[in-house]
Amino acid sequence: MSKRIAVRGEIVHFIGDPTQIGERAFVHLDDGVLLIDSGIVVEAGPSSRLLPGLADDIEIVDRRGKLIVPGFIDTHVHFPQVDVIASHGEQLLDWLERFTFPVERGFDNVERAAETADFFLDELLRNGTTTAGVYATVHPQSVEAFFNASRARRMRMATGKVLMDRNCPEYLQDTAQSGYDDSTALIRRWHGVDRLVYAVTPRFAPTSTDAQLASAARLLDEHPGVLLQSHVAENRGEIEWVAKLYPWSRSYLDVYEHFGLVRDVSVFAHCIHLDDVDRRMMADRGAKMSFCATSNLFLGSGLFDLARANASKVDVGIGTDVGGGTSLSMLKTLAESYKVAHLLGHTMSARQAFHLATLGGARALSLDGKIGSFEAGKEADFVVLDPDATAIQKRRNATATNIDERLFALMMLGDDRSVYETWVMGECAWVR
Ligand code: GUN
Ligand code: ZN
Repeated sequence: MSKRIAVRGEIVHFIGDPTQIGERAFVHLDDGVLLIDSGIVVEAGPSSRLLPGLADDIEIVDRRGKLIVPGFIDTHVHFPQVDVIASHGEQLLDWLERFTFPVERGFDNVERAAETADFFLDELLRNGTTTAGVYATVHPQSVEAFFNASRARRMRMATGKVLMDRNCPEYLQDTAQSGYDDSTALIRRWHGVDRLVYAVTPRFAPTSTDAQLASAARLLDEHPGVLLQSHVAENRGEIEWVAKLYPWSRSYLDVYEHFGLVRDVSVFAHCIHLDDVDRRMMADRGAKMSFCATSNLFLGSGLFDLARANASKVDVGIGTDVGGGTSLSMLKTLAESYKVAHLLGHTMSARQAFHLATLGGARALSLDGKIGSFEAGKEADFVVLDPDATAIQKRRNATATNIDERLFALMMLGDDRSVYETWVMGECAWVR
């Protein structure tokens, strides 16, 4: 049976990238209505036009005074790493050895994986995130647990079994063959079930053999629509290691290119130490970047060059990268992204930021036909934000004169307290 609701409030969403098409990208409705039928967006428009024509039986959800935006999309995060967030240590490779690999070991236990997946997904909802590109562990049962928990919440989620067959503790290693077989079985069982998407997940070039990287490309060839996610050019020590392991390569990205992994379905986290040849290659192939500001600052990895990425016309999304990242809040991550842009002598507007966290993220995960904005026909995932959640926000907003100023204050000062409600497929899934 069809269920129709009308959510009234201030609405912001994007129908394009403001860095590419300017003003036209931005939709702002001061007093708007989001019309939803059976979990699908019918229309977002001004209340003066939409309210008078509504049928008597339609449920009106009055959220005036709040801001309604599409659900946030976290393009890069590791669910098993919630247990090592904020671990004090050195940079990437040491951090992986000391904290990350030991905690991921425990995800051979399906109860542990299920409990962590439940916790992680509830935290995403608390933070207004409705979709994410998620890494599980090397264990297929960690993927099963994550998909089961996502399905129970009706969330659109992408994940995959981590592939790693060398240069990591033996207890976390698969083989090129077992990784391929396990991934194939998981894709057959889960990809396209309800809102679930499979992502082939070679962890990064150092922990896969040539045979495994080649098998990842085979999986993509055999299963159109499946995503690929990996890490690239995050840390100087990592890059030196890749150059030693693949002495023939022109660059770190070139390793993935050599094995046919730089594609339009590919999402590469970090992309810090790239050159313009790499960026052009990503643009030519349609590959996507995930900008993980809190992780890059926490692990001392470097500064992602958003301006260069935009100039190269590469699609970019935002990633929290927990547990290298220090928060699951996309608002907090946007604040740190802004500061990273500043350190490089650039800036980032509030419009750019909210685009990255919504439609930009959807494009990065090749899901922009389904989520990321309030265009008719899209799945109705949205967040009701409270711009006045704290005393200082309220005080700051009292002097703000336009929507850009208020969005900017929200991203600089906001966190999970700013999330009043999170809705998934037209149903309220979390209330503050
Ligand atoms: N590179 C390879 N694995 C990881 C990981 O788990 N986190 C981060 N930040 N970088 C990685
Ligand atoms: Zn990561």
